[in-house]
Order: sequence, then C-alpha cells, then structure tokens
Amino acid sequence: PPDAPITMDPFQTVAREMKFLTGNIRQLLGSGHPTLDTVAKYYTQSEGKYVRPMLVLLMSRATALTPRTPASRRDSGFARGGVDTPITEPTILADENPDTPISSRSFDSAHTPGESDILPSQRRLAEITELIHTASLLHDDVIDHSISRRAAPSANIEFGNKMAVLAGDFLLGRASVALARLRDPEVTELLATVIANLVEGEFMQLKNTARDEKNPAWTEDTVTYYLQKTYLKSASLISKSCRAAAILGGSSPEVVEASYLYGKNLGLAFQLVDDMLDYTVSEAELGKPAGADLELGLATAPLLFAWKDNKSLGRLVGRKFTGEGDVQRAREIVASSTGLQQTRALAQEYVDKAIEAISGFPDSEAKAGLVEMCTKVMKRRK
Ligand code: FPP
Ligand code: MG
Ligand code: MG
Repeated sequence: PPDAPITMDPFQTVAREMKFLTGNIRQLLGSGHPTLDTVAKYYTQSEGKYVRPMLVLLMSRATALTPRTPASRRDSGFARGGVDTPITEPTILADENPDTPISSRSFDSAHTPGESDILPSQRRLAEITELIHTASLLHDDVIDHSISRRAAPSANIEFGNKMAVLAGDFLLGRASVALARLRDPEVTELLATVIANLVEGEFMQLKNTARDEKNPAWTEDTVTYYLQKTYLKSASLISKSCRAAAILGGSSPEVVEASYLYGKNLGLAFQLVDDMLDYTVSEAELGKPAGADLELGLATAPLLFAWKDNKSLGRLVGRKFTGEGDVQRAREIVASSTGLQQTRALAQEYVDKAIEAISGFPDSEAKAGLVEMCTKVMKRRK
C-alpha cells in the first residue's frame, strides 16, 4: 500500500548523534574538583535509556522537513564561534563533537535533510535534557531513599546524600550555562520552567491528594490531580524539550505546537507505564527497586483505578500505607482489580494522541522513529 508505515529502530536514525552524547555530557560536567567531578559524572557511567535526548534528536530531524519561512532557523550564533568559548574552565563547554559538519554551523534556509539536518544547538539541547533529567534522578534517589539506579548502587548510596544533592545542583548549573549559550530566550525560558515544574510535581507527589485528608474519598479530581502531577514530574521535560527542538529549528508555530503535544502525550504515557511497571516487573529487570511506590506512600494510577471500585483503599491512601500490612493489602487489591489494565489503556490513549499530533509531518525516517518511540514506550519492561 502507498502509505504503509515505515518501521524502524529509532536509535539507528540518530545513532551517529547519540554516539557523542555521553562524551559531550561528560565534557559539560568537568570540574576541577576531583570528587565533584566523579560524583557529577557517576550516572554517565551506566547505560541510561536516553529517551529524552533521542526524542529531541528525532524531533529535530522530523521537523527539519516541515515547511518554514526561509532563513528562519534559529541557531543564533551558537557553535559559530564566540558563544561556546569557555568562561570558567578550559574546554568544558567547547563544542568538540567531531561529528558536527561545518556546513550545519551556519544559517541554511535551503538545508538538505541527512547528515546536517540536526543543528549543533539541537544536539546541545539533547544533552541539556539528559542533564536536567539526571539531576532530577540524583535528587529523586535521595528523596526516595533509593538503593539502586541503572543496575548499580545509586549515587546517594555510593557517595552519600550530601554529595548526591550537590552533584544534582551542579548538573543544573552546568545545564543552565549550556542553555544560556544557546542564546535563545524562549528556549531558555522553556527549560527553566521545566526545572521549576519538576519541583512542583515532586511537591504534589508528597501529598496524596490536593487536601491530604485522613480518609480521602475517591472523586474524579483524584485522577485529575494525579495527571497534573504526572505532567509536571515527567511530561513537562519531554514536551517542552520537544517544543524547544522545533523552536531552535525555526519551525512554524503549528509545528512547534504539534511537537509539544507529541511530547506531552508521550510523556504522560511514559510515566503511566512507569507506574505500571512498579507493580509488574522485578528489581532485576528494572535496574532499580520494584514495588517501591507503595513503600514510599505513593498512590499511582494502578491503585487509583483500583480504589474507584474498592473504597476501602481510601483509608490506606490517607495514611500512606503505613499501617500494619497496608502495602501487602494494597498490592492484593490492585492485583485483583482492573487497575493495571486501565492504566495501560490510558497510556495507549495518550500514545495514540502523540502519534496523531505529528500525523501532519511529512513522512520520514525520523517521523517513523517518533512513532516507533510510542510503541517502545508501551512495550518497555524497564
Ligand atoms: C523519578 O520518579 C523522578 C522524577 C521524574 C523527577 C524528580 C524530581 C525532583 C526530585 C525534583 C527536584 C529535582 C530537580 C532537578 C529540579 P520516580 O521516583 O517515580 O521514579 P524512579 O523509580 O525512577 O525513582
Ligand atoms: Mg524514585
Ligand atoms: Mg520519586
């Protein structure tokens, strides 16, 4: 059929760019203080999934093919010399990616898709998203008293809480420097908002419901609150970085909005699946503790859906599963409910919306990669 979908490995589409990601991130994180240098780079040693940078690179490539006004690409000075010269420390922020062709470093309205269709600023954005994400993990593992991450001891275990928190702050600082050097105020504002959103989402999560009652009643607001929290905690970074990728590429307002909607819906699906896996997959497979959410007092989607049909969960939610046998009881109720199926179905709805959002983009390998990312999110086991 003429419009048969192209299926492919999204990683392959941006494999060249991904190859330099970790090295570039490590450069951004260089510190003259040897211990800080070690702690800051700790999570770059283990293989992350690199979902966010991959999405930024795929979105950059997919939107490069959409209609635009000539000379509208906004790689404003970045990597043309000058703005990426080191300020505080030698070589830390130099764009030494040998894969960056010189031709892509200038404004190029008649750009050709292929090797040079991802701008240096968009590559840097991919690195910045991974930095912000990793910073949030450093802080998250302290807050959650986590013991493992990416199949290794978490940074708080390896170096202690103080150093883990400070390393997270350092990552945010370096991400901010790299962001400032993109010389794009709109993109700076977007990513700065993400950092604030992560904290807002985490604060919402500290409270089970908007009012944090002793014996909360299930209402439609219960799910609304959870989804708002999920947007702030997970979908904000994914959606706003997709938006920023399109902005840096000089995309039209419609394409910028479509990119954002793709990221928002995929981000919501991503976290719904994450909350599902916490119930269904072992620690060995996840590379981080399983079944952790209830232990942390957190009521996520599978439990919220189970609660709708089993109102006795309200009391357990109210005391954050701290009562004798609460965690076990909650697990059993969730297991015998349709909570997990409903969570998966909702994730699928969001994934469908994500695909719909970019349906107007011209067909390309990168677009197929973005669609494939949706399938991968639904299929993932870790
Ligand atoms: C992982 O969630 C954590 C997040 C998605 C965000 C955490 C955000 C903060 C700690 C706010 C402060 C941080 C910054 C950088 C501003 P999870 O605990 O549900 O998942 P896990 O199972 O991977 O630990
Ligand atoms: Mg955690
Ligand atoms: Mg957490």
